[in-house]
Amino acid sequence: MLIERPGAIFQAHYLEVLMDVTLREVQDGDLGIFFAQMNDPEGVRMAAFTADDPSDRASFDAHWARVRHDPGVIMRTAVGENGEVVGHVAVFGPPEERETTYWIGREYWGCGAATAALRELLGVLPERPLYARAAADNAGSIRVLEKCGFVVTRNERGFANARGEEIDEVVLALSD
Ligand SMILES: CC(C)(COP(=O)(O)OP(=O)(O)OC[C@H]1O[C@@H](n2cnc3c(N)ncnc32)[C@H](O)[C@@H]1OP(=O)(O)O)[C@@H](O)C(=O)NCCC(=O)NCCS
Repeated sequence: MLIERPGAIFQAHYLEVLMDVTLREVQDGDLGIFFAQMNDPEGVRMAAFTADDPSDRASFDAHWARVRHDPGVIMRTAVGENGEVVGHVAVFGPPEERETTYWIGREYWGCGAATAALRELLGVLPERPLYARAAADNAGSIRVLEKCGFVVTRNERGFANARGEEIDEVVLALSD
């Protein structure tokens, strides 16, 4: 941004303020919080490619039991500075198509939590390339990914459970 003052034009640098987030292993007590976060109607609509029925607690619990015991899934709880569970971030998938995903509770949106959590995970995971997918209209998620170095590599169409129809999807990649 160029800022003009009488007699001077100078460049103002973009100041990035990220929430203080740390990652830790998922604990049993996190699951109820994740379930509530992942049932927020606005979040579900945004994420679009969700479970068939996010409100089905039994299938949520079965899914989380599976992923927590799968050595191919790196799943972490994002915790705020007072120990609050802000959301989760993960890397999963086969070796040739490792993918990242994350979800932040709505009360923390816009504080830099997703960017901080994803950066922290990327910093400790050497696996590259890494991929990510987002609904083409999920501007927040695409921005988070781009801030972490991902670039859009292709567009696809996919059936989005949360929208009940096929929608545009973008695939992003992080190569180094
Ligand atoms: C998408 C999501 C992860 C963003 O989390 P967040 O913690 O609010 O993101 P951040 O605060 O780190 O924001 C990073 C950037 O995205 C922008 N952004 C965040 N939400 C946005 C939105 N809804 N629309 C446009 N930009 C948005 C922020 O302004 C920021 O950009 P800036 O630094 O240039 O200002 C969060 O809204 C979420 O969990 N949504 C539901 C689940 C979901 O969509 N998961 C991703 C599936 S692909």
